[in-house]
Formats: sequence, structure tokens, C-alpha cells
Amino acid sequence: MLRILATPKDLAIAAAEHFVARSREAVEQRGSFTVALSGGSTPKLLFELLADPNQPFRDQIPWSNIHFFWSDERHVPPDHPDSNYRMASEAMLSRVPVAEKNVHRVPSENPDAEKAAREYEQTLIETTHQSLPQLDLILLGLGPDGHTASLFPGTDVLHETKRLVAAPWVEKFQSYRITMTLPLLNNGASVVFLVSGAEKTKIVKEVLEGPEKYPAQAVKPTHGELLWMLDKAAWSHG
Ligand code: 6PG
Repeated sequence: MLRILATPKDLAIAAAEHFVARSREAVEQRGSFTVALSGGSTPKLLFELLADPNQPFRDQIPWSNIHFFWSDERHVPPDHPDSNYRMASEAMLSRVPVAEKNVHRVPSENPDAEKAAREYEQTLIETTHQSLPQLDLILLGLGPDGHTASLFPGTDVLHETKRLVAAPWVEKFQSYRITMTLPLLNNGASVVFLVSGAEKTKIVKEVLEGPEKYPAQAVKPTHGELLWMLDKAAWSHG
């Protein structure tokens, strides 16, 4: 499903409404809600809205029943400016009544990225009690090169069929990343791409309308819903 929202704020509001609905539904049905947060800059506005006491979302969210994970993380310590955990913590998690034990950040301070990935895989399995976890909500972004999470074009991790979390080397960043793999992403109950800004127009068109060649196009939930939430600038089909 595709939703086009007029502005970045409207995009964040629509995403917040989806987060509230999915979190309440999961807690009512199963007592807990598992969500993977995306990184980069686009989700920041959403996180701030969810935590804002002057907005209608914060008080509707069962914060203490939510398990937070990350779709991917940079190979940096949690206090590093590039840390996806740090961004989410400053924008939201440090401002809402989450149970600290339910905030499952990637142990990305581990100099051995592979070890960090394997540890995170264990955390996912132990927390969900599932060998192939079905996360209730997975947030993803889209890079101008068609990458999502840290699944970059031309990297071997795209062909991973067993691991849930991997530590690919990303040449252009001369760094490892820790990322959820396609088997885990495609097992999500609700997988949502949040995409904002005119710089994404070209890749959005190619990913949504073009031949399959980008990592983001390999995100096809087996049982769950796939939702593309874009702002008008990212869509701009006139
Ligand atoms: C990351 C992300 C990455 C991101 C896209 C879009 O760690 O960088 O998880 O996949 O979602 O690069 O980033 P922007 O939202 O900043 O455009």
C-alpha cells in the first residue's frame, strides 16, 4: 500500500497514528509490542511526535509493554553522533516511560561487528521466543542508492537466507554496519517505509515502478503488510 502525505509533518503524523494503532492492537492481543526502529534522519520527526506531551499520541501508547529494536545500526558506540540508537534515545526513548530492559539496542560498541550481530540475533530470539521472530512493526528508510536498513546494493548480505542479523562491510563508508536481514524483515507483521524529500524522488520512482534491482525492492513481507509512506516531495508525480 502507498500513502502520499502533503508534508514531512503530515508524514510523521500518519506514521505516528500507525504506530499507536499497531502498538495498542499488539498489546491487547499479546500483551506486548515489538518494533524495529529505522535509522537515518527521516524517522526523527516521528520519534519526537510520539514523545511530545502536547501531541495526542504519547498518552495512547502502552510504552511499558513495548520492546524496541533497531532495523540497523552503524558500527559506533551508543553515544556517537552517528548512532541510530542515540538519535532515537534523544528524540523519544529518554522522554517516555519505556522499561529500560525492553530497549534492545545493537551492542555496536563491540569492535567485532560480527560478534555484535550474532549477539543481537540472540537477543531477538530470546526476547521474542521465536527462532524466526515476527516483529509487530518494522520501520525502514530508503537511501538514494536504493538501500534500506544496511542492505546496500551489490553486497553479499542481500543473499543471506539463514542469519537474522548480519555485519556487512560497506565499502563506501569504509565501515561495517549491523543490519537485520531480508529473512527477518520479510517476516514482519507490518513493514513500513518512511521516505521524505525531493532528493528521494528518482529512487522512489525506480523502486516502486521500475524493474527489480534495488535492495528495498527485496522487502516483500511473506505474511505481513507492506506500507510505503511518502511525503509529496519524495513522490512528486505532479
Ligand atoms: C541508516 C539507515 C538507512 C536510512 C536511509 C535513509 O542507518 O542510515 O537505517 O537505511 O534509513 O539511509 O536515510 P535518511 O532518512 O537519512 O534519508
